[in-house]
Amino acid sequence: MIVDRAFVDVHVDGVELEIEKVLILKVIERFSCSSAAMAAAPSHLILHPRFTFFTTTLHHQFTLFARTHHRSSSTETTHAGRPNSVSSPPHQALDYTHKIDVNPPKGTRDFPPEEMRLRNWLFNHFRQVSELFGFEEVDYPVLESEALYIRKAGEEIRDQLYCFEDKGNRRVALRPELTPSLARLVIQKGKSVPLPIKWFAIGQCWRYERMTRGRRREHYQWNMDIIGVPDVTGEAELISSIVAFFKRIGITAKDVGFKISSRKVLQEVLSLYSVSETSFARSCIIIDKMGKIPLEEIKKELELVELSIDAIEDLLQVLSMKSLTELEEKLGGAGEAVRELKQLFSLAEKFGYSEWIQFDASVVRGLAYYTGIVFEGFDREGKLRAICGGGRYDRLLSTFGGDDIPACGFGFGDAVIIELLKERQLLPEVPLEVENIVCSLDPDLQGAAATVATVLRGKGQCVDLVLENKPLKWVFKRAARINAQRLILVGRSEWEKGMVSVKILSTGEQHQVNLDDLQ
Ligand code: HAM
Repeated sequence: MIVDRAFVDVHVDGVELEIEKVLILKVIERFSCSSAAMAAAPSHLILHPRFTFFTTTLHHQFTLFARTHHRSSSTETTHAGRPNSVSSPPHQALDYTHKIDVNPPKGTRDFPPEEMRLRNWLFNHFRQVSELFGFEEVDYPVLESEALYIRKAGEEIRDQLYCFEDKGNRRVALRPELTPSLARLVIQKGKSVPLPIKWFAIGQCWRYERMTRGRRREHYQWNMDIIGVPDVTGEAELISSIVAFFKRIGITAKDVGFKISSRKVLQEVLSLYSVSETSFARSCIIIDKMGKIPLEEIKKELELVELSIDAIEDLLQVLSMKSLTELEEKLGGAGEAVRELKQLFSLAEKFGYSEWIQFDASVVRGLAYYTGIVFEGFDREGKLRAICGGGRYDRLLSTFGGDDIPACGFGFGDAVIIELLKERQLLPEVPLEVENIVCSLDPDLQGAAATVATVLRGKGQCVDLVLENKPLKWVFKRAARINAQRLILVGRSEWEKGMVSVKILSTGEQHQVNLDDLQ
């Protein structure tokens, strides 16, 4: 049993279950106090979706678990009078093992129809915005070679990798992000693709994460990347596309903002202290933990990558800066960091999204490959983790043996934005909508109804064909559920004349139409 904040991971017969600690305690308490409660289970215990499964399928095992973890309590005494009612022998518990866990693996999601409609709504916006900006869609395999993700900078993403050996003894991994796959494909395509490349992708990524609000073990990421543009016009365009997306879904600059900095800021500070490139990348990963672990820990970790005390103090002072003027005073105006940041802020004015962005030197992002501008979308109420993140990665391709091409891009997850929309009560209702419902009024006319459905579908109309002989009351109920606009009834007398009845469901108006004229 692993105790993790308010949750407890319980391993029973190899099944891992996450249950709220407080519920475990309540159940142990209940089981300990009264064996009758056990007999009354599961209805007494349906307190949590995972728990429902737990109580209905594994309550015998749970009893054993509860007893082992509560040996010293009154459990034995309480059950002594009716031992058989609760203390099933282990072989009896195994009788239940043919039942499967109906929940998806921890940290992953099913998408039942209503969730799928919401996901499609979100992805359609991702797709439409990308296309508005002239990007082409790509995708890569979910399973990639593990080597794609092996970087030496101590990134969290490396530890979170779902990796294994396949049946051909190859080390493979479920992709935790899309950027290495993009780099691989760009190298593979070589000079056959003219620059700049502007690609977008929406793909599922896997990270064995500690789960918090909006952070899951599987998530979808919308990525937009520009390959072959060395100038910050690339980053400015990318941020503009995210702003366009936010506006479409009703999120304003009052709700979210972008914190922007550049890895070159740190590089310019550390160049005064002769820090190697590897130590620089490691330092960025450590700095990204600021706010997540105590400052003293950060300092200790920075010392371990051989940064002097002076370098660390200097770095921390710069990282606290929130204004470009202050940064310019420190670094001077001639360096690339300040020059590029100023250019980006000036472009933001021209694009019209200045109110969305702010300079914040503490933003470095947690991936080793960023080399220049970095940015993250944040919720202004500070309740959620980063909504999106990205930056420039001009040297990623050479780490894979290709020629470097300047590149920048971002990743935008599907989970945090849904949380934000919920917070702001902007989550849309995405109802099921099937334009027509077609129903035969006689079992013998099922074939005729199929013909009608085929004719309509051929004309691009969506049709729900009633496949069984159902009473009209049932058909009307179903029509309401699928939000059908028309009910097409196939009755004997009309059909003999090659006609059907069309009922407009919003008005109740009904007329007969010749099958050939049905649109
Ligand atoms: P990242 O900052 O690791 O960057 O992730 C980008 C976004 O993906 C996050 O801001 C968040 O919205 C979402 N995300 C990441 N991990 C999770 C998770 N466990 N659960 C839910 N959402 C998550 C990258 O992945 C870079 N490859 C982005 C990029 C593209 N940079 C350049 N091009």
